[in-house]
Amino acid sequence: MKNLATLPVEKLLQKPRKLQFPGFPSQIDRFPDLRYMGSKRRLLPWIHQILDGLDFESALDPFSGSGAVSYLMKAMGRRVVASDFLNLSSTIGHALIENNKITLDGPAIRILFENVPTAHRFIEKTFRDVFYTRADLRFLDRVSGNLRQLDNPHQQALAMAALMRSCVKRQPRGVFTVSGDLSKYDDGRRDLRLSIEEHFLEQIEFFNEAVFSNGRRNYARREDVFKCSTENIDLVYLDPPYVPRSDDNCYIKRYHFLEGLSCYWQGLEIDFETKVRKIPKLYTPFSYRSTAIEAFDNIFRRFRNQKIVLSYSSNGYPDLDHLTDLLNNYKSDVRIFTRPHRYHFGTHEAVKRSTVTEYLLVGL
Ligand SMILES: C[S@@+](CC[C@H](N)C(=O)[O-])C[C@H]1O[C@@H](n2cnc3c(N)ncnc32)[C@H](O)[C@@H]1O
Repeated sequence: MKNLATLPVEKLLQKPRKLQFPGFPSQIDRFPDLRYMGSKRRLLPWIHQILDGLDFESALDPFSGSGAVSYLMKAMGRRVVASDFLNLSSTIGHALIENNKITLDGPAIRILFENVPTAHRFIEKTFRDVFYTRADLRFLDRVSGNLRQLDNPHQQALAMAALMRSCVKRQPRGVFTVSGDLSKYDDGRRDLRLSIEEHFLEQIEFFNEAVFSNGRRNYARREDVFKCSTENIDLVYLDPPYVPRSDDNCYIKRYHFLEGLSCYWQGLEIDFETKVRKIPKLYTPFSYRSTAIEAFDNIFRRFRNQKIVLSYSSNGYPDLDHLTDLLNNYKSDVRIFTRPHRYHFGTHEAVKRSTVTEYLLVGL
């Protein structure tokens, strides 16, 4: 297999195309981004350009994360199954991918904001002096209880997704790795000044506007990639976590609060020894050098009857050549698309900016 990684993307596409991303669905502007680690939101025009040249009616996104790529494929009119092993991700999938028409209307909003004196105080008690103000925490307890009074599961998911995004906006760096006095991150941003309640009102509107129908029956699931069904699926878009060069890539470490909130911590064991009240990590073989190669081999084999589109990055392990060889074991036609990309992601004091090369490996 020739390594095409250094060729410009337009040379690799079969037909010559304009660089202007023609036909990029305007619906994408309404996607409420969660600032999720590894989100492909900013790469969607490029991903669209490549997906648009492929023949498929149905797609599975088994590492759906923030749901950005599922949302793109839905906007492209394909039947989409969005899935992830995190409950927070599948909640977004239920709200925006599976849901074609249900919004939060007046009666639902009234229920959500209702003041119930008997509301549980679990969040307030557990996260006091850890995250947010006391009023914010009480509000989260209140809405979490009220949300269960909504009859429609898509309304519930939409309200929870709006609540999670409110929490992300109110949290200085959008992650839950540090607690206590976060005033050093306060740069006067409006997002930090609004209460979670005020954010939630705004987010309900954003999420309502993000709901749309593509005339297909789409689904959202909470599942491990190794258990996903491939029935009636033409194409699988794979975006697993990468084995990190430094630090780690644990989603639970960063988003444990959202994962807990999404199910009111039911069935989750909180570690009260930790300052931020962590919950147990979810094991994934993609995060470790010792298991990543076998994991890639396993998913390529699992999806060998589907068209495979894999997002990968030059800072991942194994490297591009190794991954291409693995994919070649199952696919006779492998094409590689490349693009420079700058990630902005904060893990320590300052926001890190790293420049990497993004790859899309297409196996036909
Ligand atoms: C790089 S992110 C995906 C980002 C997504 N494409 C987006 O644009 O937001 C990787 C996702 O894989 C999920 N994940 C990791 N291991 C998994 C597994 N074994 N099964 C299902 N999901 C997994 C993580 O929860 C995370 O949401």
